[in-house]
Amino acid sequence: MRFKDKVVVITGGGSGMGLAASKLFAAEGAIVAVNDVKAETAERTVAAIKAAGGRALAIPGDVASKEVAQACVAETIERHGRIDVLVNNAGIATIQPAEAYTEWDRIIGVDLNAPFYWSQAAAAQSMIANKAGAIVNISSLAGLVAYPGDVGYIAAKAGVLGLTRSLAVEWAKYNIRVNCVCPGFTDTQIIKDMEAIDPNRFAERRRRIPMQRAAQPEEMAKAMAFLASDDASYITGATLNVDGGQIALSSGWSPG
Ligand SMILES: NC(=O)c1ccc[n+]([C@@H]2O[C@H](COP(=O)([O-])OP(=O)(O)OC[C@H]3O[C@@H](n4cnc5c(N)ncnc54)[C@H](O)[C@@H]3O)[C@@H](O)[C@H]2O)c1
Repeated sequence: MRFKDKVVVITGGGSGMGLAASKLFAAEGAIVAVNDVKAETAERTVAAIKAAGGRALAIPGDVASKEVAQACVAETIERHGRIDVLVNNAGIATIQPAEAYTEWDRIIGVDLNAPFYWSQAAAAQSMIANKAGAIVNISSLAGLVAYPGDVGYIAAKAGVLGLTRSLAVEWAKYNIRVNCVCPGFTDTQIIKDMEAIDPNRFAERRRRIPMQRAAQPEEMAKAMAFLASDDASYITGATLNVDGGQIALSSGWSPG
């Protein structure tokens, strides 16, 4: 029960890692405010948490809107008094060649602007005054290394690393810790959607994971919970790769 009575906001909590994290934080005692752009999936997560005896509320909306961020944060504080933890998890990706890339503004909006808007809202409306808070940003291996076909995602996820470090050093004086998880290949909808576009490429991609399997979303949720918890009380500005050994294999060799 590391999060007993803590108020935790999770963006993109309707599916994948956000769903797994919402359930894990709730199971450890948190009141979880679940955002998703799809209101029905946010509500589904809330219903699952409540059915398991936990506490949750839905705060649906498009994370890329600064007004939505401010309103969702305000609603959570109005209902539950404060925000202790923010997990900036919502994300989107695509596959398009850079020279014909049409998704730049949308992907930068969701994957980079949103973590800043939500962090700023949570800090300004609650964490700074309380002199307490933990923010966990979800970047990606794509924030550390590149692959062809999603320039916006790779730029945004690299930006999240800089955002994490910048907020960590600036808000340490307010006792707000800001850290980042870089997930490797994880079996969630975002990957299923991409695999549908290019199945051969993804089959090859799976073979290059040293641990020889994709991650499950629950394994990412555990990393998020660790960084958000007092177990990580002296960790800020850090990037935790949760990737089955992929970054360690950035040598160009196959896993063997
Ligand atoms: N799955 C992977 O292999 C992988 C690897 C590295 C990083 N990531 C990152 O992990 C995070 C979670 O992704 P996932 O794999 O669980 O994917 P997912 O598609 O299962 O979940 C993403 C969730 O975000 C929501 N969302 C999308 N756009 C939104 C918006 N504008 N506003 C609010 N919610 C929105 C979706 O509705 C969905 O519920 C993302 O930031 C993603 O980039 C995923």
